[in-house]
Amino acid sequence: MTNNEPILSAKQVSKTYGGHCVLDKVSFELHSGEVLCVVGENGAGKSTLIKILSGAIRPDSGIIGVHGGTYSALNPRESMQLGIATIYQEVELIDSLSVSDNIFLGNETLGRFPLVIDADSQNKKARQILDMLHIDIDEKMLVEDLSAAQKQNLQIVKAFHQEARVLIMDEPTSSLGVEETRSLMQLVHDLRGRGLGIIYISHYLEEIFEIGDTILILKDGEQVGLYPRADIDVNFVIHNMVGRDASMFFVRERVPIGADQIQVENISWKDAVKDVSFNVRAGEVFGIGGLVGSGRSELAASIFGMVRKDAGTIRISGQELSINNPKDAIKNKICFITEDRKKYALFDSMDVQDNIVIIHTEFGKSPLLKQKKENRLAKSMIDKLHIAVDNTEESVISLSGGNQQKAVLGRWLLNDATLFIFDEPTKGVDIGAKEEIYKLIIELARKGKSIIMISSDMPELLSMSDRIGIMREGRLIKILDNQRITEEDLIHDFIGI
Ligand SMILES: Nc1ncnc2c1ncn2[C@@H]1O[C@H](COP(=O)(O)OP(=O)(O)OP(=O)(O)O)[C@@H](O)[C@H]1O
Ligand SMILES: [Mg+2]
Repeated sequence: MTNNEPILSAKQVSKTYGGHCVLDKVSFELHSGEVLCVVGENGAGKSTLIKILSGAIRPDSGIIGVHGGTYSALNPRESMQLGIATIYQEVELIDSLSVSDNIFLGNETLGRFPLVIDADSQNKKARQILDMLHIDIDEKMLVEDLSAAQKQNLQIVKAFHQEARVLIMDEPTSSLGVEETRSLMQLVHDLRGRGLGIIYISHYLEEIFEIGDTILILKDGEQVGLYPRADIDVNFVIHNMVGRDASMFFVRERVPIGADQIQVENISWKDAVKDVSFNVRAGEVFGIGGLVGSGRSELAASIFGMVRKDAGTIRISGQELSINNPKDAIKNKICFITEDRKKYALFDSMDVQDNIVIIHTEFGKSPLLKQKKENRLAKSMIDKLHIAVDNTEESVISLSGGNQQKAVLGRWLLNDATLFIFDEPTKGVDIGAKEEIYKLIIELARKGKSIIMISSDMPELLSMSDRIGIMREGRLIKILDNQRITEEDLIHDFIGI
């Protein structure tokens, strides 16, 4: 690093929502070639901080310093023009254009005739940039044909092309598989080497310790501290963000496993699920691993009736079920806790309590009693999962990402089903709350429930599952007894080498 001027700084930045201070005098400096990681529990204020930097929201007080200037607030346009690029989960690309067109959008290479885009030279340049960053995407492909991970890479490439000096990423790996996460880590590393300053938010502390130069810990909106990575360790971070010791490697309690309870036989759906069969016993956690796109979620959707399977049967204790839609599945005591809470799981217009109790409709005749019971149930879940809300009537959309996930979980955990299917149950959830969720899952197992748990989080898959089924290209290729298996073993099986 040649000069020590920060490329971005925040001084005493604060934000209050409805009298509740969610960011309290936070300060940091970011330098060229530095990766600053922001960590904290769900609701700690991480996304709020980056929204202030990207210009999405105004702080109440404090100063943002960028490019030699100081600002009391930015708008999204200013932020972008000052070289701050924010990679959002909701991708801002144009599906019907090619990779190359998207890189140059708003900045097209014009040909000899005005207003005619020179596609050839644009494609060539796009290829160069992609190669330079070691990104293996065909520049001529349509964006609609790219995977989520590729789209995210493309957004980063675009920011790089637009000469962004600061790249902000809020939980960029939460929807990525193992391999994709590894290549993102590599890309961040490359960009850092090219002098970008990077702000990186993640609940995966392995990632933080792999790529972070400095670590900013937030707790309840307050800045616990800003530390060089070399000065601290994982336990220090966990202790200071959660306020107690928790473990990166959860050790679950063993519960007795009973007889076969769920029989899934020869399930097929389109090209995504091919002739899948397995059993799950009472009290068993059956983990399902595989790469993103290996058919895991589609298998769950076929069992739950979210899609109409082409073939196969599902039995509970030998009794064949007729499932044509999720309603049938719920009636037959099957729950599906989906990973895509935005699309399927949350009711934006309802408050937190109603979101939790929504599937418990028949509590008796008196509305007053019903209200009381709902209130009690919702409160118990909010307490158990430490959902950060001011009151149960708060609207769910104002909750932080992880707290929304916990509200969805809370709803299903109240349900008396026989089979619980979890799809990425702790996605976006902080390390303290993860433990609570794991304990609740084990609690279900103890009651003799059967659990199918799809997960891309390897430590989670390994620490929670009694057996692990591995999916590859729609097939369940292997079922492993979870004894002495390592992450590396699993990855080999996922990829097939
Ligand atoms: N528009 C809003 N109105 C009211 N409260 C809000 C709003 N946006 C965020 N909050 C509150 O601000 C706090 C901080 O939220 P923020 O999204 O910054 O948390 P986070 O650290 O990113 O958490 P997570 O890890 O769950 O993503 C939360 O308590 C949240 O409920
Ligand atoms: Mg957040």
